[in-house]
Amino acid sequence: MGLIISLLNHKGGVGKTTSAINIGAGLVELGKRVCLLDLDPQANLTISLGLPRFPNTIYEALRGESPLVPYPAKDNLDVIIPPLIFPVQKWNLLMKLAENIY
Ligand SMILES: Nc1ncnc2c1ncn2[C@@H]1O[C@H](COP(=O)(O)OP(=O)(O)OP(=O)(O)O)[C@@H](O)[C@H]1O
Ligand SMILES: [Mg+2]
Repeated sequence: MGLIISLLNHKGGVGKTTSAINIGAGLVELGKRVCLLDLDPQANLTISLGLPRFPNTIYEALRGESPLVPYPAKDNLDVIIPPLIFPVQKWNLLMKLAENIY
């Protein structure tokens, strides 16, 4: 059974991304399988991990245009990446689609 941990705060720069990466890495160290979902259009988590642009992002998956394909960042650590080029219209639509999964 999986456990979902969400890190959200309206205030910027309070350590959400840093916490997500480090909690994820810590859980991997403890032998857990982790999937990090990056829903931030800034894609700081994805960029911090040095992950490449990937055609299947959370955006296409939420629109039903592609399967949800996690990017294997390292053993036991997958990442769902956001679109790295992100027009405002896409952001609004993503948030609307994401309401259905929260
Ligand atoms: N525990 C900490 N101690 C000191 N500095 C930290 C700590 N956590 C994060 N930082 C630093 O604070 C800055 C903001 O962190 P981070 O990017 O994780 O915040 P964020 O909440 O995700 O920001 P944003 O709202 O822009 O997405 C970064 O420079 C990061 O290195
Ligand atoms: Mg962040």
